[in-house]
Amino acid sequence: MPNTSIYPVCDIQDIPEGKMKSFNVSGKDLLLCNVGNTFYCVDNMCTHEDAPLYLGCLKGEEIQCSLHGGRFNVVTGKATVEPAEISLKTYKTIIDKKQLFVDVG
Ligand code: FES
Repeated sequence: MPNTSIYPVCDIQDIPEGKMKSFNVSGKDLLLCNVGNTFYCVDNMCTHEDAPLYLGCLKGEEIQCSLHGGRFNVVTGKATVEPAEISLKTYKTIIDKKQLFVDVG
């Protein structure tokens, strides 16, 4: 039986190294990040207040929220700098024939 929680998102070339992009996947607001050509997926909304993280800044494995400067590690989802305290949910990414998929299950 096919895994129905895996959805195609984009071509891997749509997110260059060091960049990030937000996508609505199966009703979820997600952020895809390219860190050293490995792709990570986290929730796009900051856990501190309602600010979309795609407006922030990705430096290495860390994303900084544009509203209050809270930071998260996009590999683990862990909040690393206050006022962010609650971790982001992470999602598994899959690459198949240069297409990027996310498992939202
Ligand atoms: S809304 Fe992101 S740190 Fe406050």
